[in-house]
Amino acid sequence: MTTTVESKVAELVKPFAGKPSELIQALHRVQSSLGYIPPEAQATVARALGVPPSQVRGVVTFYHFFRTSPVGKHTLRLCLGTACHVRGAESVLKAIEEELGVGLGGTSADGLFTVEGVRCLGACGLAPVMMVDDEVYGKLDPKKVKGILRRIRGSAG
Ligand code: FES
Repeated sequence: MTTTVESKVAELVKPFAGKPSELIQALHRVQSSLGYIPPEAQATVARALGVPPSQVRGVVTFYHFFRTSPVGKHTLRLCLGTACHVRGAESVLKAIEEELGVGLGGTSADGLFTVEGVRCLGACGLAPVMMVDDEVYGKLDPKKVKGILRRIRGSAG
């Protein structure tokens, strides 16, 4: 039985059928259409191009620009660098997890936020810091971060 994802992916990678050397291009095409590359899409790409599924999995996990889970509407980058760590990034992360129901690398069930951890956002004086899309939020504490997330959620309608 073919799922919708499988048939869509099969269509997308038709130009690359039987061309193992085009693997990365094929994966880019799938990701720009679906937003990410789920396991069933990887299997379809492997079949179409004639490469082992393990090779497709290897490429998808090796390159940071490929994603295996859907991305939220907003990307939240929490700084886990030294200055932020010392000033309580851990408790901010806990508050994010409580508020969104997901931790680092996850996407909230409502599809609004993808949470990522980063090394340093270059705003150490404002530690602890996070960015939501292009906006920087500093001097965070658990209460403040929950308020920010609720505001963004509220304005998302
Ligand atoms: S360590 Fe967090 S902004 Fe630099």
